[in-house]
Amino acid sequence: AIVILDFGSQYSELIARRVREKNVYSLIVKHTIDINELRLIKPKGIILSGGPNSVYDEGAPLCDPGIWDLGVPIIGICYGMQLMVHQLGGLVKIAKQAEYGKAPLKISNSTHLLAKVYQDSTVWMSHGDSCESLPEGFIRLACTNNTPDAAIANLERQLYGVQFHPEVVHSTYGMVIIANFIYNICGCEPNWTTEIFIEEAMNQIRYQVGDKRVLLALSGGVDSSTLAFLLHRTIGNQLTCMFIDQGFMRKGEPEFLMDLFERKFHLQVHYINARERFISKLSGIFDPEEKRKIIGTEFIRVFEEESKRLGPFDYLAQGTLYPDVIESAGINLDSKSGERVAVKIKSHHNVGGLPKDLQFKLVEPLRRLFKDEVRQVGRRLGLPEEIVCRHPFPGPGLAIRILGDVTHEKLNILRDADFIVREEIKKGGLYSNIWQAFAVLLPVRSVGVMGDKRTYAFPIVIRCVSSEDGMTADWSRLPYDLLECISNRIVNEVKGVNRVVFDVTSKPPGTIEWE
Ligand code: XMP
Repeated sequence: AIVILDFGSQYSELIARRVREKNVYSLIVKHTIDINELRLIKPKGIILSGGPNSVYDEGAPLCDPGIWDLGVPIIGICYGMQLMVHQLGGLVKIAKQAEYGKAPLKISNSTHLLAKVYQDSTVWMSHGDSCESLPEGFIRLACTNNTPDAAIANLERQLYGVQFHPEVVHSTYGMVIIANFIYNICGCEPNWTTEIFIEEAMNQIRYQVGDKRVLLALSGGVDSSTLAFLLHRTIGNQLTCMFIDQGFMRKGEPEFLMDLFERKFHLQVHYINARERFISKLSGIFDPEEKRKIIGTEFIRVFEEESKRLGPFDYLAQGTLYPDVIESAGINLDSKSGERVAVKIKSHHNVGGLPKDLQFKLVEPLRRLFKDEVRQVGRRLGLPEEIVCRHPFPGPGLAIRILGDVTHEKLNILRDADFIVREEIKKGGLYSNIWQAFAVLLPVRSVGVMGDKRTYAFPIVIRCVSSEDGMTADWSRLPYDLLECISNRIVNEVKGVNRVVFDVTSKPPGTIEWE
């Protein structure tokens, strides 16, 4: 594996994904990791991430100086390089002015790290401090106009540093540099592939579970669906899936999912109709946080009751992914900039987001994967494209897209309007370029006119965003013709709606969902 030591960079996950895109397994660890623990991982190479600090800051994140003598190739990126220089006896200069943006790379030594990188190709800079004098045994490999030591190396000790960020797309040869490091310098083989992952995961599941029974809460999202397919392929009917219909799914979705999993792929799925239970609990509740909490609590109740009825089970399968593992490992640094420090904005409730004190042992075969890797695994296991490429859908479903209290009438209106939004976006060929596209129902009424009659009805909001990870988002510039078509259809086909509006708010300051 390639190990990434995280110094609080917003790009640590991106570095890990870049390495994996080259079919080499990578994992992120805290910069404070003990040297012996690090040895146990047997890394073939180490990448030191960037970070918001200066090495001279009080409490600046450091690493065990023993890593320089591990005999494993190391590359420091940005802060990681400055730390290397600082700890090995060179001098880091405090910045008068930060350098930010693109710069042409002037290469003076194109062997090793910079092999096959073009002269004057663009690299992405984002740093304050820089290197003033190199530690003994180091040479300069490249510079930029503002940064004399843009890439450095101690060839004998296999220590490298780059001041720029090879992991971001703006560094045009960034992937070449990463490939040079992991293949040529560290000697990694490209053996992190979907096929090998599936084979190893299946062995691991068999070993862990034996002939015991496993329960899975299926939501129809890509994670739980991939998990269901993987487990079903491995342990067949030792797997029981539970599908709790809270009544907040999109039009036709429960039927579609049951048909697919049970009738087409022969998984054992228990459908639990809890619609009335959920909607009655929400009656008269207007506060978004309260709605979310009620739904979350009720979900756990139903889950507990039903798992008792269907059980006993020894294991619970969960679609935990690698980003969840990194977050919960508490890697988020209390950095100056406050980056990556989790702040509670909304209480998220995942279907399958269950409390920790349940009486189950956990099976979490996807916990080493990033989302795009889960999609590849799902695809390889035969999961239909319709599920593999789904837009994210929140656990509380349509209940948080009806502002205020939820009623049957409003649910029906929203379901029909939402169906039209998604259908037209698919027809227009835009579905796969968009992160999420959906309708929101506002609990106010406005006046309209249809035929010769005055109407007084609800507005529907079209919410459509592009995003990389849901943390930030921009509103999608849908073509006017498409908006017109969606608007006409909703007003004509959905009774109870007389107006359609388009949300042009990015995140931040807005959130993607309206509640
Ligand atoms: P916001 O509204 O916070 O949403 O900008 C960011 C992303 O998270 C999804 N979301 C949820 N997902 N349970 C989930 O599993 C939830 O309770 C939940 N709330 C929001 C949202 O759809 C978007 O993709």
